[in-house]
Amino acid sequence: MVTIPAGERDSFGSTIGVIAAAAGSAVGLGNIWRFPYVLGENGGGAFLLIYLGFILAIGFPVMLTEFTIGRRAQRNALGSFKKLAPGKPWYLIGLMGIVAAFLILAFYSTIAGWTLEYLYESITNGFSGKSSVELKNSFESFQAAPFRPVFWQFIFMFLTGYIVFSGVKNGIEKYTKVLMPILLLIIIIISVRSLTLEGSREGLIFLFKPDFSKISWSVVLDALGQAAFSLSIGMGTLITYGSYINKSNNLPRTAFQVSAIDTFIAILAGIMIFPAVFAFNIDPAEGSGLVFIVLPNIFQQMPGGYFFAILFFTLLAIAALTSTVSVLEVVVAYFSEELNLSRKKATIIGSVAISVVGIFATLSFGPLAKYKLLDKTIFGWFDYLSANILLPLGAIFIVLFAGWYLGRKNVLDEISNGGLLKIRIISVFMFIIKFLAPIAITAVFIYGLGLM
Ligand code: PHE
Repeated sequence: MVTIPAGERDSFGSTIGVIAAAAGSAVGLGNIWRFPYVLGENGGGAFLLIYLGFILAIGFPVMLTEFTIGRRAQRNALGSFKKLAPGKPWYLIGLMGIVAAFLILAFYSTIAGWTLEYLYESITNGFSGKSSVELKNSFESFQAAPFRPVFWQFIFMFLTGYIVFSGVKNGIEKYTKVLMPILLLIIIIISVRSLTLEGSREGLIFLFKPDFSKISWSVVLDALGQAAFSLSIGMGTLITYGSYINKSNNLPRTAFQVSAIDTFIAILAGIMIFPAVFAFNIDPAEGSGLVFIVLPNIFQQMPGGYFFAILFFTLLAIAALTSTVSVLEVVVAYFSEELNLSRKKATIIGSVAISVVGIFATLSFGPLAKYKLLDKTIFGWFDYLSANILLPLGAIFIVLFAGWYLGRKNVLDEISNGGLLKIRIISVFMFIIKFLAPIAITAVFIYGLGLM
């Protein structure tokens, strides 16, 4: 094992930088593209309530656990386990994380590519004069065409690689610090616009009024998967970022702030989208095309729509970029620290390999659409496997590792910065990571997958 002397490893330069980068990872297509359509498919308000429960009781503690592991070890997602538990099989959690990173980035970059196409369309005024049927058709024919979606996916992977290439402080931190506040501003502007649409009330009722007859175990599993996906937990992204966090940072506070920002933005995305869905008579269970089908309709029919369309797709692309960067960083940190590649080589190899896998995800909306297993396409499987299976599974093992292997003494030492911070929640926290989270996630798994 090579030990890297302190000071040589790249790190975040400031608290604000840490929050921007971690919130940049958490806030992404998961909030603005995935959250609304998964909520729409799962019946609305009741899903939101379960989702919020998972964020608070499981998501936030798991995030704090990941930061703790990463900062303690000062290593990548796999190396952290090797360092803290030498010679033990715990590093397999890290390996699972690397696999999850590949799968996630492969399908995430498909959607990220769509955002660029839509940004391009909005700049060239491509939605104008189209009826809602025509808009839906042009979305579907774009998705299905082999060349354009793959082209945009590659461009997106290139941008991601470029930022990661530049390093943690001079790449990730520098860009997210500028991009995140812009994102927040844009999303607030569009939410206000959507709220003032005529007929917006019904959308708010759908979003906020729970109808418990809609709940089943598979809905609960979807809520858990969405919570894990949205917070970027369960695959070592936040272990990796945690390893770049300064020893004096208040980790519980950072984890809480990041979880809160992520949740706030998901709810804002709901407020931005559902009033419009109902105002324009679109089916909330439309599926993965929801934002791409709904929003161009609004933009075209609202004053200033040209301008709002550009804003929105810029927002979506930015949100996606600050997340893809964090996923790629997991792979790059692993390649460079464990396989001893230079950061540049690691970035190039990682992005190219993922782009190649990603082509299959993208083409599964077109030429590969007919290849289905249990009614899911390749894209569908990448998404389901990573969000609903690998991330929750990763989360179980991560908390078990911290709760039972590291133990209270080490965990407390790390999150209290060696005793400097007073951690009042430590007993609750230990209870959650030793018992509550693993048991709850296992139960949701067993029932949600229909194993019982
Ligand atoms: N949290 C990101 C989003 O919501 C996606 C992501 C998942 C990023 C897992 C990193 C790890 O878009």
